[in-house]
Amino acid sequence: MNTITLIQPDDWHAHLRDGLALQRTVPDLAKQFSRAICMPNLVPPVKTVEEAEAYRERIMAHVPEGVNFDPRMVLYFTDQTSPEEVKKIKASAHVNAIKLYPAGATTNSDNGVSDIRKVYAVIEQLEEQQVPLLLHGEVTHNHVDIFDREKRFLDEVLSPLLQQFPNLKLVLEHITTSEAAQFVLEQGRNVAATITPQHLLFNRNDMLVGGVKPHFYCLPILKRQTHQQTLLEVATSGNPKFFLGTDSAPHSKNAKENACGCAGCYSAPTAIELYAQAFDQVGRIDRLEGFASFFGADFYGLPRNTNTITLVNEEQIIPTSLDYLDGEQIIPLYAGKTIQWRKV
Ligand code: NCD
Ligand code: ZN
Repeated sequence: MNTITLIQPDDWHAHLRDGLALQRTVPDLAKQFSRAICMPNLVPPVKTVEEAEAYRERIMAHVPEGVNFDPRMVLYFTDQTSPEEVKKIKASAHVNAIKLYPAGATTNSDNGVSDIRKVYAVIEQLEEQQVPLLLHGEVTHNHVDIFDREKRFLDEVLSPLLQQFPNLKLVLEHITTSEAAQFVLEQGRNVAATITPQHLLFNRNDMLVGGVKPHFYCLPILKRQTHQQTLLEVATSGNPKFFLGTDSAPHSKNAKENACGCAGCYSAPTAIELYAQAFDQVGRIDRLEGFASFFGADFYGLPRNTNTITLVNEEQIIPTSLDYLDGEQIIPLYAGKTIQWRKV
């Protein structure tokens, strides 16, 4: 197949950052995707519907002329979030969900929830209003190995949570393990998961063999190859529980190539082509459209897009570096490497 035409995809998990970063991130994302879930882990985080509306305005100011882009906003769940705020989300035209970061789990998560059992009153309201809870699914205890943190979250946090709130609408974000995929498969239609391009294309060998490659470092961390294979299987299975969420998370080159490098891969400029590459590698390019353009919208109860994009089976080299902030650089995911698909 030399070209494929898809309904324009949406990105159900993206980090756009704020301020000058928006000059880079908004055009990169908006040239690929019609809508994006804009993650709220700014400094300080986006905690109220009012703050989300203001952040959305700042994003909209960077959408290029003639491009349609509809940022979908998310609140950052803290120990102080009130059940009242959930009603405001439900009533809002632009805010679709709330994101729970276990405190300390990842970039800018210090204000996250310290113990999920303390916020069950808010979760009860989420279940009642059918407002999606987006989860960074990792436990944070120091003694738990970084490669086991997602699996432990399933057993220790998610299972009890769903027992208490069986109808909670929930997205387990950026799943990285066979156990997480299996867990999602075993739940009802109210439980879904996003999958990133890096977790479909790479495994921990790509990050660690032959020298540490900090641009593959993200959280949850890349796992072993068997997990990568399971993720490819479920993503390309046609099961609507699994949909596209890039977790594109920009950090400057200096912040990544550092003695204490930041977690996050920047995939926005070529995300849909990276997914095409992953699906094609397992002979399933025909399953890309459901994953990229239908299942997320259906889960969120939003209309499917109607315009289309076209990908051609033609080599492209991912740029080695891009301008970022004022005089800094950002190294995109798979920089300098050749992929087989290109968006026209
Ligand atoms: C994200 C970031 O940089 O904001 N980093 C990452 O490694 N994925 C945060 C997150 O989604 O965990
Ligand atoms: Zn993220």
